[in-house]
Amino acid sequence: MGTLLEVKNMSVSYGAIRALRGFSLTLDEREIVAVIGANGAGKSTFMNAVMGMTACESGDVFLDGAALPRESWRIVRSGLSLVPEGRKVFTTLTVLENLRIGAFPLSKPDPRDMDWVFSLFPRLGERREQPAGTLSGGEQQMLAIGRALMSRPRVLLLDEPSLGLAPIIIRDIFAELRRINEEGVSILIVEQNARQALLLSRRAYVLQTGCLVKEGDSKALLADPEIKAAYLGH
Ligand SMILES: Nc1ncnc2c1ncn2[C@@H]1O[C@H](COP(=O)(O)OP(=O)(O)OP(=O)(O)O)[C@@H](O)[C@H]1O
Ligand SMILES: [Mg+2]
Repeated sequence: MGTLLEVKNMSVSYGAIRALRGFSLTLDEREIVAVIGANGAGKSTFMNAVMGMTACESGDVFLDGAALPRESWRIVRSGLSLVPEGRKVFTTLTVLENLRIGAFPLSKPDPRDMDWVFSLFPRLGERREQPAGTLSGGEQQMLAIGRALMSRPRVLLLDEPSLGLAPIIIRDIFAELRRINEEGVSILIVEQNARQALLLSRRAYVLQTGCLVKEGDSKALLADPEIKAAYLGH
């Protein structure tokens, strides 16, 4: 498996706050990689910087060895797509309208992409005319994932998809993420829910106040006493 996405030495500050310090990461073709860390570790900062939505002090991002463009819509067109923290669906628009927005950056949207999303999440198909604000939290998360898939990404980036959801819904959504990955989409996920993220991913990076403190195979991290004590609640 070759490297698909490579982030080198990324640093981001907000005034005096150094939110990310020289963080580097790789994601192989068809791999699932997680970044775990507590509140304020810099996870969203990292994702937003990769997507060109937050300015970096330093850092380079390569997709297939080529530097990513800077503007977010061009980044999406290149093959990255973000499911943002807190889902950010357009509540007054219908499910269909939200999904169509996900395809905006493409020069040639394909109607089959919508069918693909509905095959992954049949509940979205059943509710296609419903305003997104009337969906349950879990359905809104499915919509946010579906919207991101509408640009046909090679890399799907997910910022805390488990946030505020019941354990059973989290399990469903993570099972769907595995299926999306099996269909060829590489996944980069950041989570406070370390256990779920480590169970889903092959490799993981641990961020603490903007610094990388550990990285390795997710299975090994699940068994690591330090990780257990700090992130897995025993
Ligand atoms: N726009 C901003 N202006 C100033 N400081 C910010 C801004 N965004 C984030 N920060 C700070 O940067 C640090 C990292 O925040 P970030 O949102 O990246 O963390 P996170 O790991 O995503 O946390 P959480 O798990 O709570 O979502 C925090 O100390 C936060 O207060
Ligand atoms: Mg965050």
